[in-house]
Amino acid sequence: MGEAWPWPGRLAFGADYNPEQWTPATQDEDLDLMVEAGVNLVTLAVFSWSRLEPEPGVFDFEWLDRVIDRLWSRGVHVDLATATATPPAWLVRRHPEVLPVTADGTQLEFGSRQTYCPSSPIFRQHAVRLSRELARHYRDHPALALWHVSNEYGDELSRCYCDVSTERFRAWLQHRYSDLAALNQAWGTDVWGQRYSQWGQIAAPRKTAAPVNPAQRLDFERFSSDELIELLRAEVAVLRAECPNVLVTTNFMGLFRDVDYWRMADSEDVVSNDAYPDPADAASHVSAALGFALMRSLKPSTPWLLMEQAPGAVSWRAVNAVKPPGQMRLTSLQALAHGADGIMFFQWRASRAGAERFHSALVGHRGPVGRTWSEARDLGRELRGLGEIAGSRVIADVGLLVGWDSWWALDAGEALPSVRFSWLEQVRVWHEALFRLGITVELVNPDCAQFDHRMLVAPNLFLQSAEQAERLERYVESGGHLVVGPFSGVVDETNAVHLGGAPGPLRDLLGVTVDEWCPLPDEESQVVAYAGAKLDAVSWTESLERTTATVAGTYERGWLAGRPAVTVNRVEKGSARYISLVAPTADLEVLLRDALESAGIKARAQSSADVEFVTRRGAHATYLFVLNHTANVVDVDVPTPSVDMLTGRREEHTMTLLPRGAAVLRSTVQTNQEQRCV
Ligand code: GLA
Repeated sequence: MGEAWPWPGRLAFGADYNPEQWTPATQDEDLDLMVEAGVNLVTLAVFSWSRLEPEPGVFDFEWLDRVIDRLWSRGVHVDLATATATPPAWLVRRHPEVLPVTADGTQLEFGSRQTYCPSSPIFRQHAVRLSRELARHYRDHPALALWHVSNEYGDELSRCYCDVSTERFRAWLQHRYSDLAALNQAWGTDVWGQRYSQWGQIAAPRKTAAPVNPAQRLDFERFSSDELIELLRAEVAVLRAECPNVLVTTNFMGLFRDVDYWRMADSEDVVSNDAYPDPADAASHVSAALGFALMRSLKPSTPWLLMEQAPGAVSWRAVNAVKPPGQMRLTSLQALAHGADGIMFFQWRASRAGAERFHSALVGHRGPVGRTWSEARDLGRELRGLGEIAGSRVIADVGLLVGWDSWWALDAGEALPSVRFSWLEQVRVWHEALFRLGITVELVNPDCAQFDHRMLVAPNLFLQSAEQAERLERYVESGGHLVVGPFSGVVDETNAVHLGGAPGPLRDLLGVTVDEWCPLPDEESQVVAYAGAKLDAVSWTESLERTTATVAGTYERGWLAGRPAVTVNRVEKGSARYISLVAPTADLEVLLRDALESAGIKARAQSSADVEFVTRRGAHATYLFVLNHTANVVDVDVPTPSVDMLTGRREEHTMTLLPRGAAVLRSTVQTNQEQRCV
């Protein structure tokens, strides 16, 4: 009998499988090889709509029945896609309005993938119809472990500017603002003479002569994200109605700009993620960690699934670096460390044809030989030995506030004090500083009803509403420790500037007011004197006026010399820090180390991005993952004598990790309950 995923006591291992690209003989071989590698879950039919419904209303599930039955005869479960990631040719030829239009008015052609307008009612209706048919057909199949809705929503196309989208955008705006006067007010349409006297005058923000209205653009980002979420919801609704016992997922892409994953994750049961860290980037494991942290934070009480990663090289970068020996295993163990209960790949067998023919796969063009294949089999074996980890949870003391509204509001790239201030870059650098200090973070939605982490770190809160600020105030008053980064508290929900000075509704909490933002041109830098150290400010500084905060660091150069750069405001039982500069990672570490210390959180003595420690806690044991992200042998201290589940060896005091090596130290000593935002 099959079981829906997640599986207690067992980790998932498998890949996207595209049998329709292969002969029956090759498919026979695939089954044997999957058993040999220990594959227990495959994703099927992601791009199979044109096979499943070759003509309008004519369904052909026979070939898929055969594949699923045969997989199941070998005990392999199925993560069954709803196949709606790419509409078939007949659909777009019958209804050309399904084809999306870019901001410059170009209608995109069929012949690639994801060529559909997310707002198209025709596309939606057909996608839902196909999902319903699939759900009715497969709902009782014992192999069915999970539904995989569409694929990477918004990856190839997330914003459509066609007439249908424009109509839907207007309806979305009517719902948000009710009357046109409210919209004119919210969008500040008196600037540059943009007043609307009829709803029909409003357009999607296509290419304009000069910067587009920032409120209009922000609402279009929200609308476009909502449209993709609506698409997911429409399919999920029929799957749940027809097949209530099988959980639903859609694969995310780490910290992806175009969809608010806090909202999208609410519409699925299980979070899954695709991760493609660049092997050519020595720090890519740090951004992978950030993406993994987001995944486990989206649904803290359920495990997530690493749905896709490349076994070796991808085929969509300018230069597609190969993963060196051990890298595929290490990234897989890193995902497990961060709470994944399954490790999957794109894809099982490398395609001969099509746009991804140079993408690596578990079984390459040479067949089941070579380095990747042997590493895949070893990984399958190793994962079988780690089954008891399934269901355990990651321990994180620090919350990292990350909200899409600030990202979208700030990410315009035009008409801002500096194009060099990047929301994503700030989040990455602040995360990296915490990573180097040995801190495992949980990502936290700024719209969360209540904040529970001992410390909250906000790299940037450009958009801050009064309600959000109130919740942060309550958090700090009740003993929380908050650190806020530069260019925060600047605009409200409509992207209009808060009067009275930044950080707007956070002024009292932080005890400072910004008099001026002082972005630095490329050739200029600034120095901050902080606790006996000299820290660099790059690209961004601010002229601050202190109200109730204590000054912890001051600018040293130019006319800002002597003015506050870093401040701490004690509020009842907690504290609120403001860091007004953009600092390089190493200097930010100095600032964050102090903040952690005052929150009573222990940072690592020696900063390092090379060796990562992450703990998962289960009902009966704690699992400390130690991951060597370097190409060198390293010695690490063992905090508690324990057995490495990967070698079966008991480790005490220090242990040696091979290049790209790892350990999973199992101990039955229980650590404290972590706190989280629910
Ligand atoms: C994405 C897609 C897959 C495949 C891989 C290749 O993650 O979901 O279909 O194209 O990229 O890296």
